[in-house]
This record gives sequence, C-alpha cells and structure tokens, in this order.
Amino acid sequence: MSQPLVIRIGICGLGTVGQGVWKHLSRIRTELESRLGVKLELARASVRDRRKVRTVKLAPGKLTTDPLAVATDPNIDIVCELIGGTTVARDVTLAALACGKVVVSANKALISKHGAELFETARRHGGHFLFEASVAGGIPLIKALREGLVANRFPLIYGILNGTCNYILTQMEEQDAPYPAILGEAKKLGYAEADESLDVLGWDTAHKAVVLAFLAHGTWVKPEQMIVEGIDRITPGDFKNAAALGYGIKLLAVIARDFKSGELSVRVHPTLLPESHVVAKVSGVFNAVSVQGDVAGTTLYIGRGAGQDATASAVISDLVDAVSLLKNDRRAFITARKSNAPARPEKVCRLAPPAHIRGRYYLRMTVSDEPGVLAQIAAAMAGQGVSIASVIQSAQEPAGAASLVLTTHQSDERAIAATLSRLARLKCVLEKPLLLRIGDFSE
Ligand code: NAP
Ligand code: HSE
Repeated sequence: MSQPLVIRIGICGLGTVGQGVWKHLSRIRTELESRLGVKLELARASVRDRRKVRTVKLAPGKLTTDPLAVATDPNIDIVCELIGGTTVARDVTLAALACGKVVVSANKALISKHGAELFETARRHGGHFLFEASVAGGIPLIKALREGLVANRFPLIYGILNGTCNYILTQMEEQDAPYPAILGEAKKLGYAEADESLDVLGWDTAHKAVVLAFLAHGTWVKPEQMIVEGIDRITPGDFKNAAALGYGIKLLAVIARDFKSGELSVRVHPTLLPESHVVAKVSGVFNAVSVQGDVAGTTLYIGRGAGQDATASAVISDLVDAVSLLKNDRRAFITARKSNAPARPEKVCRLAPPAHIRGRYYLRMTVSDEPGVLAQIAAAMAGQGVSIASVIQSAQEPAGAASLVLTTHQSDERAIAATLSRLARLKCVLEKPLLLRIGDFSE
C-alpha cells in the first residue's frame, strides 16, 4: 500500500489567531487526515519574541524568530501568514508565493494594499493565495461570494465587518460607557488589531470592504478614495438621540454598484439603522453582512467576526482547500482557478462622485443657546439645498450651550460635506458637528 502524502504546514505568527490555528488543527488533525487522505504535519512556526508565554506548546526545534525561513523552507507546503501588517507580512507572503507554495492569510490590511501584487506573484509562480479569514471572521463569506453566489451580480453588499467596533458600540449602548474603557476589554478578548486605531477609525472595515469589492466587482478600490469614518466621536448620548428617533447605531461598510451607469461606491461609516432592522439587532463581536444578488435575491450572513476560535475556523477551512490544491484533484482545479483569477473581471467600474451618493443624515452639534442660532444653522443648510426633517434640542454643559440634533431629508455627500464646512465656520457652532448616515436599506 502506498504511503499517504505528507503535507507540511508552517505558521508565521503565533499570536491570537496563530495559536488558535495550532490548537484546533492539533485537535482535529486525525479526523481531517482521514477525510483528506493525507498526513498533516504542523512543521514549524515563527514568532517575534521566543520568551513570550503561549498557550500552545511546541517542541523547541519547531519555533524560530525568522518568518522568512518558514516561508522559504523547501519542506513546507502551506504557509499561514498570521503576523499582520503590511511589511514583514508582505515579504513573507511574496517569498512563499515565489516558491510556488500555497499561502493562507487572515491579513485584510495586506490584501487591500497589495492584493494585485500577491495574486500576480501567485499566478506567475504557480502558488496560491487563500484568504477566507480576512473578512468577517468565522463566517464563510468569501466562499459564499465566490462559489455559492457565482451566478450573481451584486448591486448592494452592506454590513458590520468589524467585531471590535460592534462590541464597543453594543457595550456603549447597553452600559452607557464611553468607548476608551470598552476598547481595553476588546483588546483583552483578542478582537482588536495590534494597532487598535485601525478598528475604531474604520480602516479595518475599509480593508475588508476593499476585499469584498474586489470579489464582487473585480476592481481594487483604494481606501484613501473611500469615505471612511470610525466610531471614535460617538457618545452614549448619540445612542439616546438615535433611540428617540427609532434607530440603533452600527458601523457599516456599504458597497453599492449601479450596473446601468457602471458607478461603484465603497464606503464605511457609523450608520443609524431602524431598531427593527435585523442588522441593528446583531450585537457584541458578531458581524452581519447582507448580500443582494441579482439572481438569488438577498442572503444574510451572521456570525462571530473576530476572536481566536472563529478566525481559526476560517483559516483551517482554507488549509483544507490548500490540501485539495496540492493533491491536485478536480475540486482543486476549480478552486485554483478561483483563487488566483480576479473574482469578476468585469468591465472597469468607475467610482461614484460624492454628488451621486445619496442618503439622509443625522447631525449632532453643540451650539450657543441664544436667539437666532437655529435660523443661522437652517440658513447654512438651505444654502446647500439640505432640508431639515427633525430637530431635537437639549440644554448641555457648559451653561449657555445646547446640544442640537438634526436629521435631514434626502441629500447627497457633496451637499452634506459643503454644509459641514459652512456650519464649522459659524461662531454659534461650538465644536465640529458629528455626522452620521441614516441607513435606508430594505431587508
Ligand atoms: P497578534 O496576536 O498580534 O499576533 C501576531 C503574531 O505575529 C505574533 O506571534 C507575533 O510574535 C508575530 N509578529 C508580529 N510582528 C512580527 C514581526 N515583525 N516579525 C515576526 N513576527 C512578528 O495578531 P492576531 O490577532 O493573531 O492577528 C494576526 C492576523 O490575523 C492579522 O493580520 C489580523 O488582522 C488577522 N485577523 C485577526 C483576527 C482576530 O480576531 N484577532 C481576526 C481575523 C483576522 P510575538 O507573539 O512574539 O509577539
Ligand atoms: N480587529 C478585527 C475585528 C479582527 O475586530 O473585526 C477581525 O478581522
């Protein structure tokens, strides 16, 4: 009887996710081996600091501080890049792909910045790049878009893509606490990025939106070209104002394509969603993504968006695909074509100009509490054609100041940006207004 093929796995980065992969792969290895008909060997791992205490135990000979040595080790077939960032991680990924290996990555920052280069390198050298864990944690969203929904075009994809922010927003709403206190908890739970500003300022969501836009529309959008706003200026008071209007607040990514004009908009911003909307009810570390397909209609995906176990689950699903690729079976052939080709090589789409991105808005500002203020604000808005739908005014510290919350009728991003800069120039407006979008999505 012939010996089963031995597939050797190297893990670069043994932090939250890397240790989760090592732990769960060790636990289910025998079962996977019998299903795949191969032997799986956790061959080597790299870390930055050998002295750090880790929950997984490795034989000393398996651990190195040189991730490139793992990436280029001729005995290793599959390299998991779980370091994060866009420098060492890029070097490691390119080096492994240049050796024709399969690379499995959870690194959305890297893909959004260097995706085109990574796919091209994989293609050129016969390697493969798999990235299920890069978006929406344990939800198999990449597979859903690529495989389950392959018959569809996607006019609208929107949802919660950052577990840390959703955890923070949920705790803020339920505990009335400001975000810095809750961010510490999200870090301890292993949800936050090493640089947590990527989470709270919206950039991590933007990186994931770039990956989804590529899968859905075959084009790389640069985060700098997008509207990207985070949750750092939201206060517990905004949740009370939103509730008074019948809304909750979620940080959403929105990827909208008008197939008639060819315009695509990809944006990230905190959004007021009607309290009854299913996405508004998704709390804690959970993500929720609504995908509108032109054939299947709307499908909705909810699950843990961050954390060790959920992310390890997604990485291991890619490892199994990687084994299929290496065994070169029929399914692998399909996956191989999909893993390195642009998901949808459609005709190039144009980014929608701000004036074409329409919506309703919530504005919260601190103003001087004196006669004529509301008239000045209304005039500034009317000057840009922005029409007020509702006003909530309440007294606020310091004495003589008031908090003003306005909602608008339909307007657009050009008009609202111009309105904000006019408002910021008014003497009666005491601090930069906070702008939130109102999400008018049907479910
Ligand atoms: P992490 O806990 O910070 O782990 C990073 C690992 O990489 C650590 O083992 C670290 O070594 C090593 N490392 C960091 N910088 C290095 C360098 N310059 N050279 C060599 N090794 C280095 O991060 P993580 O949370 O596991 O995230 C890893 C990746 O998964 C990131 O791309 C992240 O965006 C992505 N991701 C994370 C989650 C999540 O919930 N955490 C979910 C989905 C995707 P030491 O341990 O010695 O410091
Ligand atoms: N920091 C990310 C989040 C990890 O909180 O969603 C998962 O990608």
